[in-house]
Amino acid sequence: MPAHDVLIIGAGLAGQRAALAAADAGATVAIMSKVHPVRSHSVAAAGGINAAINVADDWRSHAYDTVKGSDFLGDQDAIEVMCSEAPGEVMHLEHIGVTFHRNESGELDLRAFGGASAKRTAYVADITGQAILHVLYEQLMKYSDRVDRYEEWFTTSLVLDDSGACVGVVARDIRTGAMETFSAKNVILASGGAGQCFKPTTNGLICTGDGIAQAYAAGAPLMDMEMIQYHPTCLVENGFLITEGARGEGAHLLNADGERFMEKYAPNKMELASRDVVSRAEQTEINEGRGVGPGGVGIYLDVTVVPRKRTLEALREIVNIGKDFAGVDITREPIMIRPGQHYIMGGVKTDIDGKTPLDGLYAAGEVACVSVHGGNRLGANSLLDTLIFGRRAGEHAAARATDMRMPTATTSVQRDDEKMIASIIDRPREGRRISEIKDELGTVMNRHVAVFREEAGLQQAHEVVRRLKEESKTAYVDDRGTIFNQDVLGAVELGYMLECAEAIVVAAIERKESRGAQFRTDYPERNDDEWLKHIDINRNGDDVPQVSYSEVTFTQWQPEERKY
Ligand code: FUM
Repeated sequence: MPAHDVLIIGAGLAGQRAALAAADAGATVAIMSKVHPVRSHSVAAAGGINAAINVADDWRSHAYDTVKGSDFLGDQDAIEVMCSEAPGEVMHLEHIGVTFHRNESGELDLRAFGGASAKRTAYVADITGQAILHVLYEQLMKYSDRVDRYEEWFTTSLVLDDSGACVGVVARDIRTGAMETFSAKNVILASGGAGQCFKPTTNGLICTGDGIAQAYAAGAPLMDMEMIQYHPTCLVENGFLITEGARGEGAHLLNADGERFMEKYAPNKMELASRDVVSRAEQTEINEGRGVGPGGVGIYLDVTVVPRKRTLEALREIVNIGKDFAGVDITREPIMIRPGQHYIMGGVKTDIDGKTPLDGLYAAGEVACVSVHGGNRLGANSLLDTLIFGRRAGEHAAARATDMRMPTATTSVQRDDEKMIASIIDRPREGRRISEIKDELGTVMNRHVAVFREEAGLQQAHEVVRRLKEESKTAYVDDRGTIFNQDVLGAVELGYMLECAEAIVVAAIERKESRGAQFRTDYPERNDDEWLKHIDINRNGDDVPQVSYSEVTFTQWQPEERKY
């Protein structure tokens, strides 16, 4: 049976950074991913990575902006760690070969991003995630003696020992359909978010909440699950991301009357208020009849005010996206956008070293909730989160491995998973199709668990999710083979999405106030007296999840009214 000191599930930025850190610390490492690592969803991260690099800036200012952006729900100890370690991490990336944009003096250039009080976003045009991901993968090649790569392997379960510690995983080789058990002293989940619970979403098809659901099934608590980020600028046609970098470069948002309406909602920061604020402002304009385009469901993003040369240089990816997916040359005319699901602030609850409450189980990146983003993440803090907490988890797991004997994971979980997959393949073609259920899930989540929420809609979403969970048990697949059977993996992923969706809805019903990305029209005010606390969700068998609370950690910033 393969055995590793540190086994990392997911090969995006958090996973690769964890692998490099653990290998640097001398651990034997393996990284497992259901797609080739450079196709991980981090490749889609566009606008940049935040760090107070400029001499006139300070990490404390970055931390305060992050705390304020989180609507005071972020844990300040974790935020301090992330922001104080950011400059060193970005310089490290630069030194290993990330070609960050430079200014005319030859220093790293920094662009403005939402909710930030200074320009502090380092960038590679609008393909920053892709640029970093490829450099980390190059670095991993150096460690071929110490880092095994299981590319296109799909993890089906975590394996626990009798004490409840995580001692390995079961996975399926997508190429052959063979199942195998892997032992590990430590498992780090770095498998990304759950955006596919929503339709549309900016997230890749692979973002199906696998790690969140696997940790939840193993007994780990989830935290802040109600906090779902709607990005203000997604293509009306299909939800594709148009980077916040566009507004950072000076683009305007306009309603049907040609007004820069952000003046009413955030007179100081305008288009660069935090994402929850901008998305709500756009949705209000749309709901009140000032939207643009067919049905008035859009808002104009006007990039023509940015000098064309600068757009072609610094925003070249969205120039292509505009042409290819909306038929619009953004250097010459406004493009229609609207708020779209982009990120989940919640996830598997961890401490600042990525440790979950289960021994041997770590989580980092979007799968995790440290919580550095609280109620709302600032743009360009996610790449930072993946790298800082990926590194810390890798280091911590490697250190934990040094004094341990290698456990042997039981193979009984593999046998159960083999039966589970065989039973999906054997289902008669009588139930619903997987894709139909997924479509209904995404649609109901986008209707009722979006920018504005209220009790009746949330309850309706919960009823639909419960029904879909039942229907998913008989949903059938067409492909009955073993080689690259994505169909059967889609059925397993659907189960993960439904678990995540229920946790999201239950937490959103529970939080009876408006904070960050959770805006309840029936409870429109923030209520610090009752709700300045995290909502934790635990799995409760097949019943509705259990809800409990945990304290928010404060260090230096007390809650105050949030204005932009
Ligand atoms: O708009 C963007 O470029 C997205 C960045 C992020 O989510 O951090």
